Amino acid sequence: MNWKDRLKKMMPAGSLEKIQRRKTMRALKKRSITENGRFAEHYAAHDCSTKGQIESVMIFYVHQIEKGFSFDVYQYGRGKTALRHISDLIGRLAQVDSDWRNNSIYEDAVLALGEYRRRHTSKGYDITFMTDLFSATVNEDIATAAQRLYPNIELTRESKQDNNQVSFSKLVERRHAIRSYADMPVSRQELEDAIAMSLRTPSVCNRQPTRVRIFTDRSIISKALKIQGGFGGYNMPPALMLVTADLQAFMGVSEHNEGYVDGGLFSMSLLYSLEACGLAACPLNTMFGDKADEETRKLLGVPDNEVFIMYIAVGHFRETSRICRSQRFELDRVLLN
Ligand SMILES: Cc1cc2nc3c(=O)[nH]c(=O)nc-3n(C[C@H](O)[C@H](O)[C@H](O)COP(=O)(O)O)c2cc1C
Repeated sequence: MNWKDRLKKMMPAGSLEKIQRRKTMRALKKRSITENGRFAEHYAAHDCSTKGQIESVMIFYVHQIEKGFSFDVYQYGRGKTALRHISDLIGRLAQVDSDWRNNSIYEDAVLALGEYRRRHTSKGYDITFMTDLFSATVNEDIATAAQRLYPNIELTRESKQDNNQVSFSKLVERRHAIRSYADMPVSRQELEDAIAMSLRTPSVCNRQPTRVRIFTDRSIISKALKIQGGFGGYNMPPALMLVTADLQAFMGVSEHNEGYVDGGLFSMSLLYSLEACGLAACPLNTMFGDKADEETRKLLGVPDNEVFIMYIAVGHFRETSRICRSQRFELDRVLLN
């Protein structure tokens, strides 16, 4: 027995655990400093300058324009802040990408801006607020895009009838975030069936930290989504699920982010399960600041040992729904070697 083991044997019960906890606290602090530092160094800040950062922020603002197309009643004039940002970002993209006009993110932006322009001009709106923002070249690209047919963003309930029979690849292709739902309740059984299908989701050492809560009370859903803040412009969904991860499933510093991985995997299973069960769904972020975190915990009874993964709004498909285009990267952008 070496001196360390001898010392441990001589220590009163509980002391060793206290030392271990203090060691873990120190390691966690160090880890957070490294992780936060890495994030601070590379995230797409307001004055971002790398191609990847500029493209990300551009996708964010283009998504806002696309979201406008999914509303039941199109709100003319909405999205001016996004347009200003997109204009600024195109200017920055041109500085870091010599082939920026063939950049697929630029092409997606122009497609959305073209549709924006087409909608406004076809209703006789003055669009100088838009054309003033962009250079002659970009305005030309937008005008050309406005002549083209915007990709179909409407899907039908009919097209979902055989969702529980189609191949996985077809199901993956069919799933879209749906933000407007039929005016009818979703039963607890329907939601439980989808959650039960997701129980096969893998997790680290099979510790299964994911927890799900179902809310169908309109006033609770409305309060929760008001705090959440990312569902503006749509009616409240008939059901809202909250996915969390229980930190009690984890054993040490290296696992401190694993709840987000396991919870994310479970959430994806749940989204596909809901689709297979013929239910319309939309994942919604729970990227809360301290105040929203505290208010949500209080409102929904979420204890401190659980971390938020995401909400999932659920309902039945309407006869027709509009989706956001949400174009995806090509394989070569994702697969790095
Ligand atoms: C974690 C997560 C959080 C999201 N948060 C929101 C949100 O707050 N509001 C919203 O309208 N959509 C939200 N979405 C939906 C995305 O915008 C949508 O999934 C994305 O554009 C891809 O489109 P698709 O789901 O139709 O394929 C979120 C998606 C994920 C995965």
